[in-house]
Formats: sequence, C-alpha cells, structure tokens
Amino acid sequence: MSATCRLSALQAYAPDTVLSNDDLTKLTDTSDEWIFSRTGIKERHKLADTQNASDLALIVARKTLHEAGLEVGALTHILAATCTQDMLSPSVACILAGALNAGPVMAFDISAACTGFLYGLSLTRSLLTENPDANILFVCVEALTRRINWTDRSTCVLFGDGAAACVCSGNAGKGSAVLEDVLCKSDGSLSGLISVGGGTACRYAKGDTVGDDFFLHMQGRETYRHAVRQMTNVCEELLARNGLAMAAVDLFVPHQANMRIIEAVGCRLNVAADRVFTNVEHYGNTSAASIPLALAQACSVGRIRPGGRVLVTAFGAGLTWGAALLRF
Ligand SMILES: CC(C)(COP(=O)(O)OP(=O)(O)OC[C@H]1O[C@@H](n2cnc3c(N)ncnc32)[C@H](O)[C@@H]1OP(=O)(O)O)[C@@H](O)C(=O)NCCC(=O)NCCS
Repeated sequence: MSATCRLSALQAYAPDTVLSNDDLTKLTDTSDEWIFSRTGIKERHKLADTQNASDLALIVARKTLHEAGLEVGALTHILAATCTQDMLSPSVACILAGALNAGPVMAFDISAACTGFLYGLSLTRSLLTENPDANILFVCVEALTRRINWTDRSTCVLFGDGAAACVCSGNAGKGSAVLEDVLCKSDGSLSGLISVGGGTACRYAKGDTVGDDFFLHMQGRETYRHAVRQMTNVCEELLARNGLAMAAVDLFVPHQANMRIIEAVGCRLNVAADRVFTNVEHYGNTSAASIPLALAQACSVGRIRPGGRVLVTAFGAGLTWGAALLRF
C-alpha cells in the first residue's frame, strides 16, 4: 500500500542573467525567428560564472523552507533531481544538506534528466510509505548552460538554468497538493539520443582543454518523435488506470522543452490550449526543474486553484518519461 504524499511550499528560482535569442545570434549562426518559430523560446536564464547547481538549489531550498515554516532540523531526507550536478560526487543533495546544516538526513541525487521531478515523486511516495512522518525536501535544479557548446546551434538555443523545490510529507499542509498517482518509464536502448557529458567517459590528461564529449548532445528530430509519442502514451495510461478522462483534468502542465512538442502532445490528448500551461518562452528547457518551475508559476498566477486536478508529463535523456496526477 502506498502512503499519502503531499507537496507543499512549492517555490521556484531562476538566475538573474537572461540570454535572449538575439544574444545568441552573437554566439552562433541563428536568428530569433528560427528559434521562436521552431521552439517557442524567446529567452532563457543563465547562472553566474561563480555559481553551481548546488548554489541555485540552496537559494530555492531556503525559499521553500521559509514558505513551509519548517525548521531545517525537521527534515528527514533531501533529494535533488539534476543532470548537471556540481561534480560526479558528492551529490548536490549532500552539498545542499551541508550548506543548510541539515544534520544526518538521508541525501542523494536522482538522475533521470528532464523526468527527474516525476522519478522523485515516485520515490518520495515510497519513502513516505516506509516512514509516513518523513519531511522530504525535494529540489529540482539544473545548470545546463555549463554543458552547452555555444557553437552548436542545434542545442544551444534550447536550454536554460533554473531550480524549484517543495516539501513532500504525509501530513496536511497549507496550500498543499496531493499526489494522486505517478507513472515512470525508461528505454535505455535509446540512451544515445540525448547525453550530457562530463562523466568518466571524458578521458583527459591534466592540462588538456575539454573536448566535444564534455557537452550536451542531442539528436533533435529523433528525440522529438519519441517525446511526442511517449508523453502522449504515458498520460493516456495514467488516466486510464485512474478511471479518468482528460475532461477530469483542470490543467495540463507538460515538460517545457519546446512549444511544438507541447502542442503536438496537447493535440493528441485532445486538450484545449486554454487548459495547457506554458512558460517555455521565458525559460527554455530547464530539464528536471521544468515542471515544478511551471507548477510554481501556475500557482502564483492563479492558474491552479484549490481542488484543481493537474496532469503533468515529462520526457528526457535516458530515455526516461512519465506522468503524474496532482490534486491541489
Ligand atoms: C531541435 C529542433 C527544434 C530542430 O528542428 P528541426 O526542424 O528538426 O531542425 P533540423 O535539426 O532538422 O535542422 C533543420 C535545419 O535548421 C538548421 N538549424 C538547426 N538549429 C538551428 C538554429 N538554432 N538556427 C538556425 N538554423 C538551425 C540545421 O542546421 C538544418 O539546416 P540544413 O537543412 O541546412 O542542414 C527539433 O528537432 C526539436 O524540437 N527536437 C526536440 C528537441 C527537444 O526539445 N529535446 C528535449 C527533449 S527533453
């Protein structure tokens, strides 16, 4: 039997520096018209040279704990979903735990790229089944611009940095959402379609400049095809196993990767555009942070009201994908 998993104090943070499409035309051969018409993206945020993913995580974690009215000492777990951790080890979650002075909490990262929020929700539900009194700080954070090759126009225009976090617990809380269900999948045979470098496959001697394998790579066309098919399928499967039709969903919040993917999935699921929330125009693809960042914004502008049911779905490197139903 699975426990109640409540999300509260959902907060988001994006670094101050904004790169517009016009800014990118100074770095690579592209145009605002090409980027906006193919992706719906106008601008994205970029962390400062002195910051890492854990710095963004700390900012959003403090906002979240403040909003939740929770002392750091009340936390039992810290989870961080990211594909752009500061280093392979220690985890962002451990670095964050240290910065928060969180004591001996269980802390670890989740590597599921853009599906990290959904994998994390599935995991927090399991942790809450084991310990219904747990208070889990769940942070989704990306520093993707660190792994962008600014001369690769097919990828550099798509991604941005950002963070979002919430507290997951089994107890009722003000402004909280209940996780109704979550479904996560993967297909490792397609792991070559999207990759973020920087791991042990990068073989450098001291003093070498980094090579192409350090950066993010993606086969755009092929990724697009799988993204549309798998997000549509997993939403249909999740709705079906909960005995729900799309009409029972008040707001659809898909992974903010690309407006054309969002429209194609919305069309296949038969969701009217006014029931789809998007902010990809101003953030680009922030991978694991994308959905919680959009949810936080949707709440703050009144697009999600108490009692509203929200369907979220994501797709990313792995390949991984999934969907979840949240009742606010
Ligand atoms: C990336 C994406 C927008 C590219 O659009 P596309 O129509 O497939 O474009 P292609 O890659 O086939 O390239 C078409 C042309 O545009 C060019 N091009 C690519 N990026 C460009 C850019 N930023 N500016 C100008 N031209 C660009 C290509 O070089 C190519 O030129 P050519 O025909 O002279 O060779 C699209 O494939 C996509 O959205 N994929 C999914 C990406 C995604 O969101 N992934 C994340 C999932 S988590």
